[in-house]
Amino acid sequence: MRIVWKSDEINFDNAATTPPLRSVIKAVREFAPIYASVHRGNGKHSRLSSELYEASRYEIMDFFGASAEQNTLIYLKNTTEAINKLSNRLSRSSGKKDTVIATRMEHHSNDLPWRRNFKVLYAGLTPSGRLDLEDLEIKLKENAGRVRLVAVTAASNVTGYVNPLHQIAEISHRYGAEIFADCAQYTAHLPLDMKDRYASDHIDYIAFSSHKMYAPFGIGVLIGHSGSFTGEPDCSGGGTVKFVTEGDVIWDDPPHNEEGGTPNLIGVVALLAAIKSLKTFGMRNIGNREAELSAYAFEKLSGIKGIKLYSDRSLPRIGVITFNLKDIFHEDLSAALSDRAGIAVRSGCFCAQPYVQNLLRLSGDEILKYKHKPLSERPGMVRVSFGFYNRKKEVDLLIDSLQEFLTEG
Ligand code: ALA
Repeated sequence: MRIVWKSDEINFDNAATTPPLRSVIKAVREFAPIYASVHRGNGKHSRLSSELYEASRYEIMDFFGASAEQNTLIYLKNTTEAINKLSNRLSRSSGKKDTVIATRMEHHSNDLPWRRNFKVLYAGLTPSGRLDLEDLEIKLKENAGRVRLVAVTAASNVTGYVNPLHQIAEISHRYGAEIFADCAQYTAHLPLDMKDRYASDHIDYIAFSSHKMYAPFGIGVLIGHSGSFTGEPDCSGGGTVKFVTEGDVIWDDPPHNEEGGTPNLIGVVALLAAIKSLKTFGMRNIGNREAELSAYAFEKLSGIKGIKLYSDRSLPRIGVITFNLKDIFHEDLSAALSDRAGIAVRSGCFCAQPYVQNLLRLSGDEILKYKHKPLSERPGMVRVSFGFYNRKKEVDLLIDSLQEFLTEG
């Protein structure tokens, strides 16, 4: 399994987006000549395109252990759009369950869409910044009967911590709530099994983006049980109906009612190719390889004088490591890594401002002080994030460069 990447830069910014796999580019090239309209034509190519598009849902659900009889798979633009859709949808059928429990470790996309439609409570963090399961259970117990959903990240884009999804699912179901797992940071790194809906620890809904899964062609996925998506969608139009008159509409069944407009078939082709390659390589193997690299990087980074690391390496994690170095401003450091060493990383708050404020131990007053300052003047961190293709020698270069900045300034 190989990626397409120009060798003039080391890419340690896989949590933001991953480069395409060679197999993905090949699949897109091969499919392009027969690409035609999905569900909107009777030509040979159009029929082939429609068949591939529909069959893809089964292949992807299977990859995540989601039964096609119990679930539907909706294609969207990305994880953010998927979470907004889920929030809009669930808010219409929630009755007395007007509350969502999110956590203090979410990025904005798994926080703000819930704030719009629900009363949101937040499960707190342990001192090492991990999700506090006891606090989650207390909140579920105190609000039993009112919680529609627990919305939790499968893996953090800031600390790399992996949450025990099945344990959280079991607790949530015990108190009558469903669980949504934001899998944006997870699907390219570890295996996931949503499990049968009758298992007490099954996962009700997941969402992820293909651009973080080596298939950057603009597609995202939402999987969850069909019953939650019947009737009028939040984005209506062509492709969403069975019948329309001047005064009447019969909405199509899920997932079709949820996919207004011509769908992104090339995005699907790319995602399928990526999943095929990841499957052949083995998600367990990928997880093990990245864990080894991450442990190596942690070891080396913690040996640097004046470094502050923001997560506990002994906890279950993906290869995401955040840090600050002495008094070097995070953005200056990330720019220097790129300009002077050819290493791409991300810095700042990673679209997860509340979590980063928490990890930086900023007081309420300090947070207020930065409220109207541009992002480039606010406190933050530097983040390295690995993919299966990164190597120890690349980590060595990072370490040498950080040491050099410290000595030479
Ligand atoms: N895509 C965002 C990141 O870089 C959330 O972590």
